[in-house]
Amino acid sequence: MKFFIDSANISEIKEANELGILAGVTTNPSLVAKEGVSFHDRLREITSEVDGSVSAEVISLDVEGMLKEAKELAAIAPNITVKVPMTLEGMKAVKALSDLNVKTNVTLVFSANQALMAARAGASYVSPFLGRLDDIGHNGVDLIAQISEIFDRHAIDTEIIAASVRHPVHLTESALNGAHIATVPFKLFEQIVKHPLTDQGIEKFLNDWNNQK
Ligand code: E4P
Repeated sequence: MKFFIDSANISEIKEANELGILAGVTTNPSLVAKEGVSFHDRLREITSEVDGSVSAEVISLDVEGMLKEAKELAAIAPNITVKVPMTLEGMKAVKALSDLNVKTNVTLVFSANQALMAARAGASYVSPFLGRLDDIGHNGVDLIAQISEIFDRHAIDTEIIAASVRHPVHLTESALNGAHIATVPFKLFEQIVKHPLTDQGIEKFLNDWNNQK
């Protein structure tokens, strides 16, 4: 499973990229709105920093509007992936963009049928939202497992991005259940690098080193 960062904050993206683990970036309208910057300018900054896929979401709800936005977004950099919501209009847009060889990430996926439909429309990625499913009493990780099994059984090469990842257990379980990618907030990178035994070990090694005879 590869790591994407789920952020529109350029400092976080640069710092995650310096870790050498970053395969891409996802943004959404809420994350961009928090930044208070021009969307296109921020995408230019992000794509010049990160080589991997950078997902940029359309706001329009109709296929014509989605395609107009998608073409403007795709013109920003070759590594832009157009993020499209899981709707009938969205599926038409995914089909048209896939015919134009523009990569797409179908977002707001909450069921295996939605994921299958998005894949068949030509999506490069589907993004099941784990945390938001857990929030309403469902099990987001089970959805990853279902999508993974369906895609494997039917030789579908659309990649599964575990999204709305809220804690380290989500990450491990997404990897175990077949997600190709997890997109995570920066704070999760800080959380998963930590282990109390690692910290204790470093402290002991340094003490022993400093107290040598
Ligand atoms: C990523 O593609 C999603 O937009 C994001 O992970 C949603 O996360 P949230 O449910 O924490 O807002």
